Amino acid sequence: MATIIVTGAAGFIGSNFVHQWIAQESDSVVSLDALTYAGNLANLAPVDADPRHRFVRGDICDEALVARLFAEHRPRAIVHFAAESHVDRSIHGPAEFVRTNVTGTFSLLQSALAHWRGLEGAERDAFRFLHVSTDEVYGSLSPTDPPFAETKAYEPNSPYSASKAAADHLVRAWHHTYGLPVLTTNCSNNYGPYQFPEKLIPLVIHNALAGRPLPIYGDGSNVRDWLYVGDHCRAIRAVLRGGVTGRVYNVGGWNEKTNLEVVHTICDLLDAMRPDPAGPHRRLITYVKDRPGHDRRYAIDARRIAEELGWRPARTFETGIRETVRWYLDNTKWVADVVSGDYRTWVSRNYSDR
Ligand code: NAD
Ligand code: DAU
Repeated sequence: MATIIVTGAAGFIGSNFVHQWIAQESDSVVSLDALTYAGNLANLAPVDADPRHRFVRGDICDEALVARLFAEHRPRAIVHFAAESHVDRSIHGPAEFVRTNVTGTFSLLQSALAHWRGLEGAERDAFRFLHVSTDEVYGSLSPTDPPFAETKAYEPNSPYSASKAAADHLVRAWHHTYGLPVLTTNCSNNYGPYQFPEKLIPLVIHNALAGRPLPIYGDGSNVRDWLYVGDHCRAIRAVLRGGVTGRVYNVGGWNEKTNLEVVHTICDLLDAMRPDPAGPHRRLITYVKDRPGHDRRYAIDARRIAEELGWRPARTFETGIRETVRWYLDNTKWVADVVSGDYRTWVSRNYSDR
């Protein structure tokens, strides 16, 4: 049976991807994850008992471990999600972002290259290294700029996006110079189940349910292009199946919203689904000091992936956000567990001086 290796599989998108893969595809999955604060084995509980799934705790920078996994499983692909992913954390502590996102990707590329060079014939032709990246590498748009196409010059503005941009460049170079069959996806903001409550949507749901302030950076008019996580996972599967090696595919929801619109939507859903006797959830909205270097607007032109691979988002924001709020209401134990550790230290670090 064929196998793929998924890095960062215990994180938000990685775990949703593994669930979807096991449900929809036939290959086995080896999930590799260091279980940082963002990684959580409970995210992989739905595939725990599946004989096609194996979890390995480990660091993508550990070349000996990665080489062993390649030798043991002879994967036909590696899907690389592992990263430090939160912009605010990258502002407070960029070093870990350089280590994981840049050095970690470099290390994986080296391991993948050694493995691929040892393959022959059909196995060698079929091998793919799929690098999961972000729209943030393209920089920030004004309200009237066209959305990011794959040809847009890179202009990363945060330590996080700069580290992802560096990784993207390494991936590109390993294809151009060594011929490694790589694919890169650059996706917009995801939301959905299993997202750690440091990112806007789960943070707002979590705080609203506790009656705590809903912090809006600046004036709340920054725009993001929101995509349901399951749609992102389908896009990655489509690129892995049919993408042209060396090519980049932008993935987005055609769904631009201001942060204030998103927060209003969540408040109104909670008013209907879990009314608060103290009053409408919008009363908790609190404007706080802006994020340094805060990108104004992201928007993705997702025409290439639609035209070449037939992928389009299936969920509307209205259905996706409703399901997401429902998920957080139904999974209070998951939330309680993930906010029990260092979470409070992070919240006080990021919000106390705002
Ligand atoms: P996440 O922070 O939820 O998960 C990251 C996972 O990587 C965690 O499980 C963590 O334990 C693991 N990890 C971190 N360092 C590691 C290391 N050195 N070795 C092995 N594992 C390690 O992130 P996410 O939101 O699921 O994002 C996944 C990927 O998708 C990232 O590469 C991110 O840049 C990209 N992306 C995210 C979004 C989004 O909206 N969340 C959008 C576009 C692209
Ligand atoms: O665009 C893709 C990127 O989306 C991914 O590459 C990143 O991994 C992911 O974290 C996300 O980055 P953002 O910075 O856009 O996401 P975040 O949820 O942190 O913030 C979304 C918007 O909400 C942003 O404009 C900042 C704002 N915000 C965020 C938080 C946490 C607030 O106003 N208040 C908050 O407390």
